[in-house]
Amino acid sequence: MSHRIIPVDPFDLVIFGGTGDLSRRKLIPGLYHRDADGQLPEEARIIGCARTDLDREGFRALARQAVMDHVAADHRDPQVVERFLARFEYVTNDVADDAGWDALRVMLEAASGPRIRVFYLSVGPSLFGPIVEGLHRHGLSQGARLVVEKPIGHDGPSAAALNDTIGAAFDESRVYRIDHYLGKETVQNLVALRFANALFEPLWNARHVDHVQITVAESLGVEQRGPYYDRAGAMRDMVQNHLLQLLCLTAMEPPHHFEANAVRDEKLKVLRALKPLSGHEALAASARGQYHGYADEAQNPDSRTESFVALKAEIGTWRWAGTPFYLRTGKKLRARLSEIVVTFRRTPHQIFPDLDAPLAPNALIIRLQPDEGITLSITTKDPGPGGFRMRETPLDMSFGARAGTAWRMPDAYERLVLDVVRGNQTLFMRRDEVEAAWAWVDPIIAAWEASGATPEAYDPGSDGPYGALDMLSREGRRWRVLTP
Ligand code: BG6
Repeated sequence: MSHRIIPVDPFDLVIFGGTGDLSRRKLIPGLYHRDADGQLPEEARIIGCARTDLDREGFRALARQAVMDHVAADHRDPQVVERFLARFEYVTNDVADDAGWDALRVMLEAASGPRIRVFYLSVGPSLFGPIVEGLHRHGLSQGARLVVEKPIGHDGPSAAALNDTIGAAFDESRVYRIDHYLGKETVQNLVALRFANALFEPLWNARHVDHVQITVAESLGVEQRGPYYDRAGAMRDMVQNHLLQLLCLTAMEPPHHFEANAVRDEKLKVLRALKPLSGHEALAASARGQYHGYADEAQNPDSRTESFVALKAEIGTWRWAGTPFYLRTGKKLRARLSEIVVTFRRTPHQIFPDLDAPLAPNALIIRLQPDEGITLSITTKDPGPGGFRMRETPLDMSFGARAGTAWRMPDAYERLVLDVVRGNQTLFMRRDEVEAAWAWVDPIIAAWEASGATPEAYDPGSDGPYGALDMLSREGRRWRVLTP
């Protein structure tokens, strides 16, 4: 496995919410790995910014703990840890209080030389607007880059309003809306598979593809995020962003160049070509579920929020008309499994006599997690005498196994944060994409609400509600089994 490290220019990364969960679990460990690989320049600083009253030493202690907790022992080098922690600074900033903003300005102006300035909003969505306005008001947004986590709004209008607020302070070319699914190694491999190989593209259309399934199944429940999740549900939390982004990369036309706006233009065309679903059509093309015990975890006994959703999406283009894309995501399911499965059409004519069952169609399985890899399922002859007996044989490529045991699969955030510093927006969502995704999702949620129906209950550890199975069997198809 060749590994190319391209050092980035000096930067100041300010993490609003630097003491929070995402910062400790993903951002700090990810940056540590980049430092260990020699990618961070000497001058780079990581500046925590949060309401918590802390000093530099306190923040360094927190960062040290994050490294201990989330970086494997065999990747922790004491010398690198010390070098890494020396980059950390901290500013206490209560967004409503001018003193915190002044302290942040002083900190930034104390930089040893010119550098890229990145503000990362790792905070609850209610603080996005006030922080962006604060940065603007205090003259800190000029020339800087902004990273925003989801959720971008609760629906189309609120997303547009937030995008307006952001746009007043940061030019779109400096806004990085993170969808961490785009930073996953296999998702980028999907792009490589499609556009760096001549093999698949001629088959990548409705003539040859029967249907596509995109599954993001989780075995955990809502855990500590109950109250947030209960206001969102699986549709807003997962489909509006992660699943639709996966659908876009699977369905888009080849961009003329692997460059940010060219890629995002193509994804946007897919989102705009999604057949709108509302009213009865939306109800028929979807299934919702809620696992037993959810309402307690969400602390809302009357909750009607879905912890599972399945959808049939259709893309009205020459390439895809007639090939459904089935989306499915949920919590507390049988297994943690994320995959994109492209099922090809059956052979036009069956020449082998006496088979017990029809030949299985070929399928290309792109596994995001666990065990990242790509499998092509083909039919071969069972070896030995006894006539032509067929079996499905996987042509299996597991990235982890291929790379060797010493290799570590980088976390999505690790790559994405450095992309921001490099100024590469390819794996980030543009404003119009986010709004186009809401435009498809909003009427479906409205149809559910208008129906007054509650999501169907399902057992924790199961495959989800019966309605989802039924949705596919009505079309003569089956979901792939949720086995890890
Ligand atoms: C987040 C959702 O965006 O993605 C969570 O808000 C979900 O609800 C998570 O658990 C899943 O991410 P991953 O990388 O663990 O598949």
